[in-house]
Amino acid sequence: MKAIAAVDRNWGIGMDGGLLARLPSDMAYFREKTLGRTLIMGRKTLEGLPGGRPLAGRATLLLSRDPAYRADCEVFGSVEACLARVAGLGADEALVAGGAEIYRQFLPWCDECLITKIDAAFPADRHFENLDESAAFQLAWEGEALSENGLSYRFSAYRRLGLGPGRAAAEGGACAGEGPWQG
Ligand SMILES: NC(=O)c1ccc[n+]([C@@H]2O[C@H](COP(=O)([O-])OP(=O)(O)OC[C@H]3O[C@@H](n4cnc5c(N)ncnc54)[C@H](OP(=O)(O)O)[C@@H]3O)[C@@H](O)[C@H]2O)c1
Repeated sequence: MKAIAAVDRNWGIGMDGGLLARLPSDMAYFREKTLGRTLIMGRKTLEGLPGGRPLAGRATLLLSRDPAYRADCEVFGSVEACLARVAGLGADEALVAGGAEIYRQFLPWCDECLITKIDAAFPADRHFENLDESAAFQLAWEGEALSENGLSYRFSAYRRLGLGPGRAAAEGGACAGEGPWQG
């Protein structure tokens, strides 16, 4: 499973329920990487989407503790219930699309993180784990600096070293660099 996120210099991802910056080319990248696939997202992120509706052309697996929250996407009341649903999908089918609570809880099951790095520091109240300081992930690829709307940014990918604690527990294998996850 992959996570996909846009972060600033401090790994900030959001403020007051919204994104930190609008980068049309990053939105196009997000669309390219997710179209036809399945997104895992939290209730607050869904409510921040245009019209508060699931994105077209993608199935949405929504995390909410209110099972009757809405009828236009599948709602899961726990990480485990959502993972059981994802287990029936192909390896690259599901992408974790935020927000912070959801990235944090699903990261142990992610092998790769597609990170758009914006070279700016915004006020932020939601963050992604700093993968540059993580013993569990290493930078696998980083694109050239691009610019749009007065902002410099690059696409990058981080790959997990070994199994994550989630999969290690499930498969009885070894994981790299992380203690038991406090989900
Ligand atoms: N930069 C990026 O790439 C990016 C991407 C996505 C989002 N964001 C930003 O992130 C922010 C939102 O993140 P957030 O952390 O506040 O909220 P969130 O992760 O989007 O959603 C949190 C909600 O998910 C549900 N939830 C969380 N854990 C759960 C669990 N274990 N079981 C069942 N339901 C669970 C709960 O919904 P209920 O309250 O309904 O129970 C909870 O209130 C926004 O600012 C958004 O713009 C940024």
